[in-house]
Amino acid sequence: MDESHAPDHQNEGKTMKNLGYYNGVIDQIDAMRIPMNDRSNYFGDGIYEVCLVANGVIFALEDHLNRFYDNLDKVQIHFTYSKQALKALLQDMVERVEGTSLSLYWQVSRGTAKRSHVFPDPSVNANLMIMVDQLNLPRKDMLYKLITLPDIRFLRCDIKSLNLLPNVLASQAAKEAGCDEAVLHRNGIVSECAHSNLFYLKDQVLYTAPLNHLILPGITRARLIACAKRLGIAVVEAPFTLEELKQADEVIVTSTTKQCVRAFELDKEAIALRDPVTFTALQDAFFHEFEEETKQ
Ligand code: PDD
Repeated sequence: MDESHAPDHQNEGKTMKNLGYYNGVIDQIDAMRIPMNDRSNYFGDGIYEVCLVANGVIFALEDHLNRFYDNLDKVQIHFTYSKQALKALLQDMVERVEGTSLSLYWQVSRGTAKRSHVFPDPSVNANLMIMVDQLNLPRKDMLYKLITLPDIRFLRCDIKSLNLLPNVLASQAAKEAGCDEAVLHRNGIVSECAHSNLFYLKDQVLYTAPLNHLILPGITRARLIACAKRLGIAVVEAPFTLEELKQADEVIVTSTTKQCVRAFELDKEAIALRDPVTFTALQDAFFHEFEEETKQ
């Protein structure tokens, strides 16, 4: 690990409700400050990850780390931490925070430099920021209301970049419509949701959008697909329409912090809830794997 970025251990031994980290400085999140010239501030020039921590175990950490380093390559951010060093630091941060369900967020930006669109000099180091905070997981039997919105994001939605303005606007529009998530589509072809991936079941086959530049390769998405395959449920990763979604037997929303949630309403109309057996088998398989991996 780069020594200048090692935590200063000022809170050693304490159990905290939340904790922030920025290039080696560590404190409660509200007490943390970052430089104005961090490129994440004015360009959103960086990559982030969100993990779910249960019983002190970071769920699917290897998968998140792999996606994170892939993303850094895609945007050409040079980050000196090895995967092992970052993993050790993340685990150290998590151990300092009390609570059974936590969110672990981290981001790396292209460094601190006077505002200029081109990359800064290669001598400028990337900045690492970490936050560990309390997380309320939804109940397993939670039901989502969805609205549909045009997907106005740029064409590299596969990159988990800090630029989330369209996602923020869509999430707010969903909230104002009394909904839990926004289903994003391009001319009627569904991509994903504002902060989750989307699946549907029809005739006991599981459908979801394919992995390409139009969606984020969700870690929860991959887990649910693997569960389906183990259960012998056929999986089709292909583009689908809003019309197909409306005719679905079940609609499922997945993300790290919401896990695997069933939907029952789309644009104020009743949808889905027609194949509880297959849905429950899938959800149970997902939670079984989650509970096994996060046992103390
Ligand atoms: N959101 N699609 C988008 C646009 C997302 O922002 C997310 C995650 C997902 C699901 O990915 P995963 O299963 O790896 O969490 C799909 C996170 C949780 C967030 O931004 O808070």
